[in-house]
Amino acid sequence: MIKCINVADLKVGMYIHDLNCDWMAHPFLTKRFQVGKTLEIEKISASGIHEVYIDTSKGLDVSHAPTVNEVKKQLESEIIAFAEQEQPLPRAVEAGEELGQARLIHEQANQLIFDIMQDVRLGQQVELEKMEPAVARMTQSILRNNGALLSLCRIKNKDDYTFRHSVSVGALMVSFCNAMGMDKQTIHLAGIGGMLHDIGKMKIPDAILNKPGKLTEDEFGIIKCHVVESEQILQATHGISELSILVASQHHERHDGSGYPAGLKGAEISELGQMAAIVDVYDALTSDRCYHKGMPPTDALRKIYEWSKFHFNPKLVQAFMRCIGIYPVGTLVLLKSGRLAVVIEQNDTSLAAPKVKVFFSTKSNVHIRPEIVDLSRGMTQGGSDRIMRHESPQKWGLDPLRFL
Ligand SMILES: [Fe+2]
Ligand SMILES: [Fe+2]
Repeated sequence: MIKCINVADLKVGMYIHDLNCDWMAHPFLTKRFQVGKTLEIEKISASGIHEVYIDTSKGLDVSHAPTVNEVKKQLESEIIAFAEQEQPLPRAVEAGEELGQARLIHEQANQLIFDIMQDVRLGQQVELEKMEPAVARMTQSILRNNGALLSLCRIKNKDDYTFRHSVSVGALMVSFCNAMGMDKQTIHLAGIGGMLHDIGKMKIPDAILNKPGKLTEDEFGIIKCHVVESEQILQATHGISELSILVASQHHERHDGSGYPAGLKGAEISELGQMAAIVDVYDALTSDRCYHKGMPPTDALRKIYEWSKFHFNPKLVQAFMRCIGIYPVGTLVLLKSGRLAVVIEQNDTSLAAPKVKVFFSTKSNVHIRPEIVDLSRGMTQGGSDRIMRHESPQKWGLDPLRFL
């Protein structure tokens, strides 16, 4: 049985199933292992991990600890309770309508950040003027409808991860700041900071940055340097704002002080820095990487919500869920009726009941005529179905964006 335990209850002879820290490259050679020495427990604790999952069939048990399914159910019910009361942000156009423009804007931004990163690798400076129009266009698209651009941001290949991730963090920062009601100038500066937050990675040797296996402790230390490198590159960038630099310099700080490079705690971290930490982890979790397959957005949000007990500001995590929805546009979901559907739009009444397009019956295993269902409506208005769970598009061999 897989159980969630506090690191304080961890003992030699227990079998670690999951260190519960997917957001970081951590200094352990294997993810699953039997604890053999107290030194390992100290290392886990020193990494800022507070809770781990153990496999009681392979090692010692903690009788009072909850099982993984109990934890998952509890978290999901808390998220649904929150989502049922929360309304999404107003949107000027539908996501499907914005998708064509968003695609162009997204591609241009990717090309731009790719060029900028190459420049930095060659020892050149960041030319901020080149970025201003790209961030402005991204912002316009997000203000029309954030679902279109953000669903494109989830598409990445293993080899273009670093720059596509930069664009995603920029777009997510713009969207998040807008949802927080921040002013135009702050939104723009946060977007710039998001696009450039990992620019310091260009100073890290490629062999370490894209190493497919687990990192050694030394390599882990080298990767961590990217934050200080980012800060230095940005400090030397002509015309950049302090706010943009904060996004980059604080994106690995954690609410409980377990982050780096400064180990800042709570309000010592700027609001933008705290927000950057959330969006950076969200994008990393939902992306395919050399060492793992990306998680569906809803799972990633649940993990971030779970970690917000220690690592993230819980209020900001809730605001982020409101910003992108607990079933973001493009999420594949299974309905109670047995139909598969894709989320096409958030709904004005509740984040838990978006508008979806149904297209497949899992009961008869056939495609059905695509139809839009507003899950917030009652039976007489064409509604009455509800989301049972989200599904992985890979499992069904589908590209959900095709249905937008
Ligand atoms: Fe980073
Ligand atoms: Fe990052």
